[in-house]
Amino acid sequence: MVSMSGLHALTSEMHAGFLTLAFACIIVVVAAQIVVRLRNWLPKWMTNLAIRVRGYAEAAGYVGALLGVIGLLLSAYTGMYAWPQDVLLESSIIRNKILLTAFSTILWSGAVFIRVRFGRGLWTCPAMAVVYVGLASAGYSLLAIAGCLGSRLARDESLLDWIYAFIGLDVEKEFALDPSVAAAIAIGSALAFLVSLFVAKRYDLFSIKLGPQTCQKFFRWDEPRIVELTHKMD
Ligand code: HEM
Repeated sequence: MVSMSGLHALTSEMHAGFLTLAFACIIVVVAAQIVVRLRNWLPKWMTNLAIRVRGYAEAAGYVGALLGVIGLLLSAYTGMYAWPQDVLLESSIIRNKILLTAFSTILWSGAVFIRVRFGRGLWTCPAMAVVYVGLASAGYSLLAIAGCLGSRLARDESLLDWIYAFIGLDVEKEFALDPSVAAAIAIGSALAFLVSLFVAKRYDLFSIKLGPQTCQKFFRWDEPRIVELTHKMD
């Protein structure tokens, strides 16, 4: 019978693989979009390569992020049952892992929500693309720390130890905010959420579409569509 900690090792490898694919593909799309946008100043082979690659990378990034979020939820479940509850929550490393997993899941879910809601058209709007890439980058950074805390637990060492030492971060000490700071952040985010809901309703932003008919006209960033690799470029 496989133990829950064994299953946790499996699910964490799985979600880490999906989200690494997602993050790498999103960065490839960013680079390809910039190359295509600067096509008049760059060699043709580079633009053609970017046009051929970006559509596949964009789609793989989307699927990887979707499966990665599902995998993260699975890992949170297997992690919560990897050790007896009373022992689990005694460890400050585990409490930090739970916090980092929660934040990473929220950030990646935000990125998936934007991709589902606005589709590939999000890449025609620089502001929305920055938010999408920012959420994925922040989500991936926190995930990497959570994963390394797992390696600390299992092998008492991790790949990121030199970074923690360099920035003076003690990952064995609980990541906790001063209660008043935490309360201020919670109230501030709730207010920001309510104001953005009001503005979205006031300017009918809920029905907005991003794509060739809207953002692309102004910013001239086109959609990263899939182009057959054998397609003859002009
Ligand atoms: C709610 C969130 C989580 C909890 C409660 C949790 C809990 C645990 C526990 C108790 C262990 C030790 C298992 C053992 O003794 O073999 C562990 C190991 C580990 N965890 Fe997590 N974890 C969580 C999330 C994550 C995430 C998000 C990742 C990856 C990014 C991750 C990656 C790992 C790894 C790589 C190990 C070492 C596995 C091994 O080599 O045996 N965990 N985790």
